[in-house]
Amino acid sequence: MDVDAFALERWFAEHEHGADVMLAESGVRSLPADRFDLDPGELGYVIPTKGGEAVREAVADDHGVTADEVVCTVGTQEANFLAFQSLLDADGHAVVVTPTYQSLHAVPDSICDVTRVPLDRPGDGATADDWTLDVDRVAAAVRDETDLVVVNNPNNPTGERHDWATVEALYDVAADGDAHLLCDEVYRLLADDPLPPATTLGDRAISTAGLSKAYGLAGLRFGWLAGPEPVVEAVERWKDYTTISPSAVGHHVASQVLTDADRDRELRREAVEHVRRNREITADWARDHGLAWPDPVGCNVFLRVPEGFADGREFCRTVVGDAGVVLAPGDCFSTGGESYDRYFRLGFGLPTDELREGLDRVAGVL
Ligand SMILES: Cc1ncc(COP(=O)(O)O)c(C=O)c1O
Repeated sequence: MDVDAFALERWFAEHEHGADVMLAESGVRSLPADRFDLDPGELGYVIPTKGGEAVREAVADDHGVTADEVVCTVGTQEANFLAFQSLLDADGHAVVVTPTYQSLHAVPDSICDVTRVPLDRPGDGATADDWTLDVDRVAAAVRDETDLVVVNNPNNPTGERHDWATVEALYDVAADGDAHLLCDEVYRLLADDPLPPATTLGDRAISTAGLSKAYGLAGLRFGWLAGPEPVVEAVERWKDYTTISPSAVGHHVASQVLTDADRDRELRREAVEHVRRNREITADWARDHGLAWPDPVGCNVFLRVPEGFADGREFCRTVVGDAGVVLAPGDCFSTGGESYDRYFRLGFGLPTDELREGLDRVAGVL
């Protein structure tokens, strides 16, 4: 297996540690560990290794499936990785909607042929309209050997959320082609009005998600895959070769979040309100600096590079060098001949005082 270097992780590795403000983080501010009981008792494997029954039941309830149709993973990253290993092979084919988080096309690329279907870009006007998905182009890309259609909704990096009719249409395209729809929904609960998980559409849908982004619990490394039982069984077979079970501490904390409905609701509400407040601050800032604002869902926005900079990388290098603020260059999301080097991604999920500090510093550069 040969896999491309993860461009965004390499950029972070170069700049994250020396900088003062991380305006490129893709999730909401991290919760302090002391809000949870951190003692799971014995540090054995989580039994069953696909996650405890109560945790899987809680995820299953939210996804309209049964506990047997859920496997808990070490982050959404592992859920996606195991889905690709389970459902793709060298003779297969995947269709991936781009731009997106690199692993959603790089891992399939390492296994089989991949067709990328880019979102239509917003126009060049002063107010950016939406990034839009043309489902007909996805349908045209599906072949006899297609196993998976992959979409990330809401999308990283653009913040675009495809509406429910679009998700349904994608599901129909995948199902009509005897393929599965894999919907990475790690940002789903950051919306003011979350869509249902894709799994509610039927047994050709797979939803992956986790606690990293929408709860501010990235360090737990806790995620899941929900989908039809044969897929879950194949994923479990692969999981025995990757992480065996979720981490005991991660699972212990995740169960405090997911199996206590009141607490879950409270944590979701906190995160959504935080992101709503920060989105308004960031939108005002962008408009003040003539940067077209596309009204993202979640806490990422993909903005056009301001005038005066050759491309996103030059802009982001200048910002980190002169102002100590890390942004993410759009070229980290370039793939398969599509270039996003005229964009940069800004993550506005961090604590509000840090956000204001970071935006002020970038304003200084502008
Ligand atoms: C679309 C998407 N999927 C998965 C991940 C990884 O999430 P986790 O921390 O749950 O593994 C990210 C992280 O940025 C992401 O943006």
